[in-house]
Amino acid sequence: MAQETTSKMFRSLTYRSGHVYNFVNQLLYDWKKKFMILGKLVGKSEIPGSTLKLLDLSCGTGFLARFLDPSVDYEGWDLNEAFLNKLKLDWEKGRLKPKKLKVRVKNIFDYDDYPKEKKDVIVFSGILHHVYPKHIELVEHAKHYAKRIIICEPYAIKPKDINAHDWTARLFIFLTKFLPERIYKQLDIFLADNDGINSYDSRSAWPYDKKGLRELYISLDIKKRYSLVDELIGIWEET
Ligand SMILES: C[S@@+](CC[C@H](N)C(=O)[O-])C[C@H]1O[C@@H](n2cnc3c(N)ncnc32)[C@H](O)[C@@H]1O
Repeated sequence: MAQETTSKMFRSLTYRSGHVYNFVNQLLYDWKKKFMILGKLVGKSEIPGSTLKLLDLSCGTGFLARFLDPSVDYEGWDLNEAFLNKLKLDWEKGRLKPKKLKVRVKNIFDYDDYPKEKKDVIVFSGILHHVYPKHIELVEHAKHYAKRIIICEPYAIKPKDINAHDWTARLFIFLTKFLPERIYKQLDIFLADNDGINSYDSRSAWPYDKKGLRELYISLDIKKRYSLVDELIGIWEET
């Protein structure tokens, strides 16, 4: 694995362990369904014996790789080493489908390190709201490095807007609706979406509701869009 400086900022409990991250997300969202759909949209290589080259930016625990075709040549970048360790463990245990897999501890804004050879697909799953307001610059840059870009972003990031999947998460979300902003901020920092890389203030400024996210995708020249419960998938294709 390539060496890279990892973030030394404080991370929430959810972002300290890949096991916890996967568990929490499966309570909050219909995660398997979402990644099954993303896996289908990524597709497979049409040429027998060849691979479909995929770059997953930022890959997190690489849950997507459980739902990919074996012909996918998977590369994932993330700054969270604990997540990448979970991804590698899942690979060793045979939980991930691709035959070829590479992960790098890497900042997705290290534009100089983007692959020289164009990827078939770049995936951004749940990352744009973390890097707000640099999300548009990131996608526009990635367009030079892939034939297709698949984005999946939530339009609900505040508890009051999330339709939690599991009843325990629904109860927790319901209770957080009554919390003042400053307490909610503490919850985010210690328990929830604090990745230790991007600040609460920039993440929580994500301004897109369902309509706004659709407009953002249109402005990025994304022609195909699919709605999930709390998220919107968009596919940009090179012309
Ligand atoms: C919400 S998670 C999404 C992970 C994964 N794509 C998924 O769908 O589960 C956001 C991820 O972005 C990573 N991240 C945030 N900023 C990053 C950056 N500048 N470079 C690399 N990874 C970053 C975090 O470590 C975290 O794993």
